[in-house]
Amino acid sequence: MCGIVGYIGQRTAVDFLLEGLRRLEYRGYDSAGLVTLDENGRMDVVKATGRIDALAEKLEETPLRGSVGIGHTRWATHGPPTVENAHPHLGGENVLAIVHNGVVENYQSLKDQLIDHGYHFRSATDSEVIAHLIDFHLQQLGEQGDATGDQRYVTAVEESLSQLRGTYGLVVLFRDRPQIMIAARLGSPLVVGIGSGEHFVASDGSPLAGYTDKIVYLADHQVALIRADSLKVTHRDEGHVKHRVEKLQIHASNLDLEDYPHYMLKEIFEQPNSLRDTMRGRLCEDNATAVFGGLNLTAQQLRQVNRILLTACGTSWHAGLVGEYVIEEMSRVPVEVEYASELRYRNPPVDHKTILFAITQSGETADTLAALREMKRKGHPTLAICNVVGSTIAQEADGGIYLHAGPEVGVASTKAYTSQLLVLTMLALYFGRLRHLSYEAGRRIIRALQELPDRVAESLNCNDEVRRIASKYCHENNFLYLGRQYNFPTALEGALKLKEISYIHAEGYPAAEMKHGPIALVDEHTPSVFIMPRDFVYDKVMANLEEIKARGGPVIAIVGEGDTRVAELADDVIYVPNVEPFLQPFVTIVPLQLLSYHVAVMRGCDVDKPRNLAKSVTVE
Ligand code: AGP
Ligand code: GLU
Repeated sequence: MCGIVGYIGQRTAVDFLLEGLRRLEYRGYDSAGLVTLDENGRMDVVKATGRIDALAEKLEETPLRGSVGIGHTRWATHGPPTVENAHPHLGGENVLAIVHNGVVENYQSLKDQLIDHGYHFRSATDSEVIAHLIDFHLQQLGEQGDATGDQRYVTAVEESLSQLRGTYGLVVLFRDRPQIMIAARLGSPLVVGIGSGEHFVASDGSPLAGYTDKIVYLADHQVALIRADSLKVTHRDEGHVKHRVEKLQIHASNLDLEDYPHYMLKEIFEQPNSLRDTMRGRLCEDNATAVFGGLNLTAQQLRQVNRILLTACGTSWHAGLVGEYVIEEMSRVPVEVEYASELRYRNPPVDHKTILFAITQSGETADTLAALREMKRKGHPTLAICNVVGSTIAQEADGGIYLHAGPEVGVASTKAYTSQLLVLTMLALYFGRLRHLSYEAGRRIIRALQELPDRVAESLNCNDEVRRIASKYCHENNFLYLGRQYNFPTALEGALKLKEISYIHAEGYPAAEMKHGPIALVDEHTPSVFIMPRDFVYDKVMANLEEIKARGGPVIAIVGEGDTRVAELADDVIYVPNVEPFLQPFVTIVPLQLLSYHVAVMRGCDVDKPRNLAKSVTVE
C-alpha cells in the first residue's frame, strides 16, 4: 500500500527520495519519513505525520547530505499514523534502517521472541520486527564468523525473511556498510532503476522517470544486493539469477499536473487520448476484428472457451459488469463477474473451458492477485487486463492486455476505467468474430470504436454545466444513481466516485429495482441521478423517473443530445452525445466523474488523496 524509495550513488540522496515520495504519495499518505547515510556512517532520520509537504518542511530545518538513503510514505496497517510508527524503523542499537510495505502476519510472536532477547520496540508497527530481526541475525552471523563481507548482510536479511509470514517490499541500509543497500520483495512491488554509477529503488516506475529509463522488476522471493555500480539478484530457491533490464515506459511529463488543479481532473480530460492509446494498433479493419499481442493463446484455444470469468475489485469490478453485457451480446459467450475478494475463498464449479480475466489498474490489488493465483492453481488460463507495466499481476498472469492509459495518479480511477471498458469491448469483438459475428457487423463495431474518442471529447463539454449542478446539490448527504442495462454499472460507478472523494453516501441501483426498497429513501434532500440516454429501455426508465418525481425527489438526468422529454420532468439535465448502446457507458460516465469531482472540491475534500484510501490496495 505504501510507497518506498531508495538511492545509492553520488548525488545527495534526499533530492531523489523526496521527489520520489511525492510521486508515490498516491499509494499512502498518512505519514512519511526517510533516512540517509554518509560515507562516515552518519545516519540521519527525519519523519513527519501527514503529507510529504510536512516532511519536506522538516527537511528544510535539517538538510541531509548522505548519498545513500531510503524513504517511505505510509498507509498504516498496524498502529496509528504517528511519528514513532512512521518508517524508516531502526534495528538493534540503530545499526540499520528499514522501510517496509506490506504486513507481517506473525509479527506478534516474533516481537515476543525479540523482546526476550533484549530488544526494545519503539513503535506499534508490525514492520519494526523486521529491523530487529535482521540485527539479531547479523549478530549471530558475526559470532559464528562464517559469513563475511557483504554476504553477512545478505544472509542476515535472507534468514530474517525466511521467518516472516505475510508480504513485504523491503529496503535495508546498514550504518557500518554505507556502500550497499539490500532490497527484497514478496507480494509487494519493488523495482530497481539502473543509472550510471547509481541505482534507484521504488515501489513502481514513476519515481524513476527523468532519472533513468532502465528498470528491473523484482519478482517474489528475490533479494537484490545493490551498490552504486552493481546489482546482484538472488532468488530464494534458484540462487543467483540474471536480472532482465527493461525500458521504463513512463516519461516525467506524464506525471506533470500541467495547468490542472488536480490529477483527477487532468485524467478525466485525458480520456479521449488515453482511449486512442488503448486502441492503437489493436483494430484490424481487414479482418474486422481486434488483435492483441500478449494473450499467449492461439485462436484455436480461444475458440474452445465456453465461459469467461471476470474478477476484480472496486471500479475495475464495475468495468467487468459492463464487460459482461458487451461480451455476451457480441460473442454469446457466457460471462460471470466475481468480486476477487469473494472468488478467492469460494469454490465455484468451473469447467476446464473457462478462462479468467483479472481486471486491475494497478496490477497489485491483493484480492485480485489471490483470486488469479487460485484459478491458476486449478489449471485455468489466467489473463490480466492491467495498466501498470511489470506489476505483480501482469507478471503472474499467463498473458494479458495492457491498457496503455498512462500513469493514473488520482486515487479515484477515471481514465483507467474507460480504458478497461474499451479493452473489454475489443475482447467482445474478438470473441464475437471467432464465433458468429459477421464481417459486416465487425466493421460496423470498428467504425464506432474509432469515433469513440471524439464522442468522449464531446461529452467533456458538459463540464461547466456539471459544475453549476454540483454547486446546487453539494450540501446534500444522500444520492441515488439509477440506470438500466449498459447504464446500470455506470450507476454503480457514479455512486462509488461520489462516495470515495466527497464522502457523501450514494447508492447505485438498477433503475427498476429502486421500487423494491431504495424508494423509501426519496425525499426533497435525496437527489436521484438518472442515466438514461435513448435506448431500448428509455421509456421504462422514464416511468421510474416519474415515480421519483411523484415523491418529491430532485432529479438530475444524463440524457442524449436532442432529448426534450426528460427536460420537462427533471430538475437538471446533462446532455451527452448519442452513441450506440454498447458505447453509452463511455460517454455517460464522464459527467458523473465530473460531478463527483466538483462536489468534492466544493466540500473542501482532498480530491486526489481521499481519506482512508490508497491507490493500490496490497492488503487483504
Ligand atoms: C477506484 O476509484 C477505487 N479507488 C478502487 O475501487 C479501485 O478501483 C480498486 O481498489 C481496484 O484497484 P485496481 O484496479 O488497481 O485493482
Ligand atoms: N504494515 C506496515 C505499517 O503499518 C506497513 C504499511 C504500509 O505498507 O504502508 O507500518
